[in-house]
Amino acid sequence: MGKLLVVGSLNMDTVVNVSKIPQRGETILGKEISYIPGGKGANQAYAMAKLGADVAMIGCIGADANGVKLIQNLHAVHVNTKAIQVFEKQPTGTAFITVEETGENSIIVIPGANFELKREWIIEHQNYIDDCDVVVAQLETPIDSICAVAELAKQKGKKMLLDPAPACENLPESLLKNVSILKPNETELQILTGKPTNTEQQIVEAAKTLIDKGVEKVVVTLGEKGAILVTKNEYQMFPSKKVKAVDTTAAGDAFTAGLAFKLSEGCSCEEAIQFATKVSSIVVTRKGAQTSIPTYEEVLEV
Ligand code: RIB
Repeated sequence: MGKLLVVGSLNMDTVVNVSKIPQRGETILGKEISYIPGGKGANQAYAMAKLGADVAMIGCIGADANGVKLIQNLHAVHVNTKAIQVFEKQPTGTAFITVEETGENSIIVIPGANFELKREWIIEHQNYIDDCDVVVAQLETPIDSICAVAELAKQKGKKMLLDPAPACENLPESLLKNVSILKPNETELQILTGKPTNTEQQIVEAAKTLIDKGVEKVVVTLGEKGAILVTKNEYQMFPSKKVKAVDTTAAGDAFTAGLAFKLSEGCSCEEAIQFATKVSSIVVTRKGAQTSIPTYEEVLEV
């Protein structure tokens, strides 16, 4: 069994289902509202653990009911949450998600306690990095905390997988050179590089600019089209199974989790991507973030 560490965010998602995402200035009636455990970091940790990995998480929550529910959900799949810090004066992170009938969504995150994650906390808990095979992070916690994780992962010879979501322009090169695998979607790749990502060739060229800055491999997810693996000298396309999407929330998180899960078991990046595309193809057919994660057995049936 692989050992994984996730450093990242925990949010309680307020999800509203609508027929169509409203335009600017438009008022519409929603169909349903639900409160579902989410947060990119917690979704990834939950998914890895549900698939069967030994997972620990580092992050921050508030001393409130949402924080309690998020921890309970992680415990339900046996994630080690001892390094999740609880803050009295900050609320647990929240996200407001609108999901339309096509399955597409729009998300606003209020970081709350997630933004309290400090470099010092990471350094104090670096034994978690020693203890794992693969470290995974995203960008919903302060960039300095992520830089600290990547520095330590590199020093300790661990694989560092960064899901650069939500994407920002100009990620520090000092971070990129410590990243083994970067996993943006096409839009995030465009934001990260400032380059067009409309065609396969453009995606490969944009990904190569990140490799020139020190990233070892870039795995670009393309939604229903699958994913592309880009390395210094070549690239390979991985198509995904066609499914009817009802909610794309956490599809990227599930992909990251599937990828890290297989890498932690010693599989090649190619095998890991094939598995990850199957995990996310199930997630888009179910509603919600952590509520949509499949078991390992379910993935094998795809
Ligand atoms: O990737 C989906 C997640 O993004 C949601 O669960 C939400 O909390 C935001 O972090």
